Amino acid sequence: MGSGDLTGSGGPGRGRPVGSKVALVTGAGSGIGRAVALELAEAGWSLVLAGRRADALAGTARLAGGSALTVRTDVTRPEEVDGLFAAVRDHFGRLDLLFNNAGTFGPAVPVEELAYEDWRTVVDTNLTGAFLCAQAAFRLMRAQRPQGGRIINNGSVSAHVPRPHSIAYTATKHAMTGLTKSLSLDGRRYSIACGQIDVGNAATEMTERMSAGILQADGQVRAEPVMDAADVARTVRHMASLPLEANVQFATVMATAMPYIGRG
Ligand SMILES: NC(=O)c1ccc[n+]([C@@H]2O[C@H](COP(=O)([O-])OP(=O)(O)OC[C@H]3O[C@@H](n4cnc5c(N)ncnc54)[C@H](OP(=O)(O)O)[C@@H]3O)[C@@H](O)[C@H]2O)c1
Repeated sequence: MGSGDLTGSGGPGRGRPVGSKVALVTGAGSGIGRAVALELAEAGWSLVLAGRRADALAGTARLAGGSALTVRTDVTRPEEVDGLFAAVRDHFGRLDLLFNNAGTFGPAVPVEELAYEDWRTVVDTNLTGAFLCAQAAFRLMRAQRPQGGRIINNGSVSAHVPRPHSIAYTATKHAMTGLTKSLSLDGRRYSIACGQIDVGNAATEMTERMSAGILQADGQVRAEPVMDAADVARTVRHMASLPLEANVQFATVMATAMPYIGRG
């Protein structure tokens, strides 16, 4: 698995209780990824948890009951993504769900001040990382029998409208919508369903600034309402529970009173 570490027991295809479906969550060590992993564990899914921080993944695995496979992975590195999916194949023999969630916001600075390296980090994580994971999942889902599976991409309300000082994040989240649509179309013939959840202001490390006070379009700095990441997780659980003949193509789950609808 590239330079990543793997924990968990069992040989090829042996990690999965009979009848249980297999889900891979990227960015599973915190925030929405962790909340989704816990929700899927409760629903009986076998879990693979990926992210860069081994201790954070172990924490999620512990909370999820201890049987999840954790694979330390940087999704920006193709060889580590290859290793992650080889581990999924070896351990579980198949993949039924990818929650393509790993992401980063990058520094909130004016367009003209964004460093090239920071642009690259956001693009490599949010777009290239999501593509690499989706491509590897697609290959596995196409080849496995029974054929097919589901990919749920984590977009954002920033897939629709920007915040001030978020050009890299906004551009990559708009691009995520393109990934979702292409995967949906190309997946049809292989029973691969692809949907997208667009979240607004779930309380996580990434959104600490929202409740502290964040720059608004009118130039003021104001605190914004947030919601519990568990409310996102329940929606992902529902999307994941559908038969492959049905798909939630796009879902928006946001803090009810956040400044999004109504131009502020
Ligand atoms: N919270 C919201 O309101 C909100 C709104 C819209 C969209 N989202 C989206 O939700 C997703 C999760 O964000 P969050 O709010 O839960 O924030 P978070 O707690 O910061 O989660 C981001 C996760 O991505 C992982 N990650 C970052 N870079 C990675 C890389 N190169 N390789 C592998 N994993 C990587 C991080 O784990 P490591 O650091 O351990 O790698 C972390 O667990 C993101 O895609 C974000 O854009 C969130």
